[in-house]
Amino acid sequence: MPQFTAVILAAGKGTRMKSELPKVMHQMAGRPLIDYVLEKVQKLGIKEVLTVVGHGREIVANHVTERSRVVVQEQQLGTGHALIQSVPWLQDESQVLVLSGDQPLLSEETLKALLELHENSGAAATVLTAMMTNPFGYGRIIKDKGLFQGIVEEKDADLKQKEIKEINTGTYCFRGACLKSALGKITPQNVQGEYYLTDVFKLLISLGEKIETLCTVDSTEALGINNRVQLAEAEEILYDRVRKFWMMEGVTIINPSSVFIDTQAVLNKDVVIHPFTLIKGNTRIEEGATIGPGTTLINCNCHKGCQVENSIARQSVIGENSVVGPFAYLRPGTVLGKGVKVGDFVEIKNSKIEEGSKVPHLSYIGDSTVGKNVNIGAGTITCNYDGRGKYGTIIGDKAFVGSNTNFVAPVKIGKGAVIGAGSTITKDVPDRALAVERSQQKIIENWQTTKDK
Ligand code: UD1
Ligand code: CA
Repeated sequence: MPQFTAVILAAGKGTRMKSELPKVMHQMAGRPLIDYVLEKVQKLGIKEVLTVVGHGREIVANHVTERSRVVVQEQQLGTGHALIQSVPWLQDESQVLVLSGDQPLLSEETLKALLELHENSGAAATVLTAMMTNPFGYGRIIKDKGLFQGIVEEKDADLKQKEIKEINTGTYCFRGACLKSALGKITPQNVQGEYYLTDVFKLLISLGEKIETLCTVDSTEALGINNRVQLAEAEEILYDRVRKFWMMEGVTIINPSSVFIDTQAVLNKDVVIHPFTLIKGNTRIEEGATIGPGTTLINCNCHKGCQVENSIARQSVIGENSVVGPFAYLRPGTVLGKGVKVGDFVEIKNSKIEEGSKVPHLSYIGDSTVGKNVNIGAGTITCNYDGRGKYGTIIGDKAFVGSNTNFVAPVKIGKGAVIGAGSTITKDVPDRALAVERSQQKIIENWQTTKDK
């Protein structure tokens, strides 16, 4: 295949989003819209990528600069005007793929088919189209006896043209030289007073050039995002695709419509996802893990056979066959070894809990290390903050911590040590020692005077 240059149009304000944030930076399934477009272009193996930025240019430019050359459109005078800005970087002999930053659902296969058709037909331009049951808002494809004649925008279309269901997806291929000469001739003579990219086609036809069209098999791919309703629709379509993909890979998803898996997450066979669960970011879930119901995992690593129920975990590692929840909160830096139990109303932050240890109820463990086969009694707290700094508690293997213990960090508990329930531990405890810190129980006989008590 000859060299393609990709141009992504992303300078528009996205007025209909009613937002301070540039449209292409709005998130869909945890990533900005433009990332989906950039990712497809990369997968096609296109090396030369230009992104036209304008509205909110700093935010968009910063975001794309490592993956694309940034071209600035000072004033947003239309899609044609946006593409004109990229002309200095377009070679006459190269092919140009034009995409919109607001069309995240186009598949790699469709784009590949578009490039191939364009190449093989030798056309001056190839337009990617779609059949829409409700074509409102899109440019309509005008054909005469099956031959492409041009594109009419919704706002410029007459009643008859508005009935046309075949729409312009806003994705095209051009021969560099043809595109450059036609772009030089477009004018803003239309209802919106904009330089329409779509006017290029009329010009090319008048020069006798051949234009091809390719209709997407799945019209949802063409969904352009202009407002937040369309954003939600596109996101739902994407989540549906991702769920179906993982189910086909051997993941059980119960009540799929209540489960949301981001595109970058990786699951494995025999994982079971229960309802009302969010799998976000770069989360990895190994074979046989059971996640949910009611669970949110953000950038977590879940090893084989672990179980997480009604819990939230961020940037955490959950060891093989570990059991978490219900109602646990694992904050960044939590690392659970194999066969660990973290039970109800337990919060863990930036701490390591090693193999076989249990923190079953009502605890806070922060900035600490808990060795192997340790039992932490209900209500135990590591007091890791003194108002200025954060300190850790180190608990040795096989230690037994009685309920309602406070560890005033920094403090170190030896291997096999026993802590009496209700102790506030401020000094290190040697291996195998018993530490108890509480006053003697007093018994005052006959405290109640009335006979019936
Ligand atoms: C455009 C097409 C329409 C097509 C639809 C598909 C034109 C004239 N119309 O309409 O035929 O059906 O896409 O979704 O091209 N942009 C700039 N600079 C500008 C204006 C726009 O970079 O001055 C960028 C936007 O950021 C966006 C893309 O171009 O990513 C499309 O612009 P938008 O205003 O959304 O065009 P539509 O009205 O959707
Ligand atoms: Ca659009």
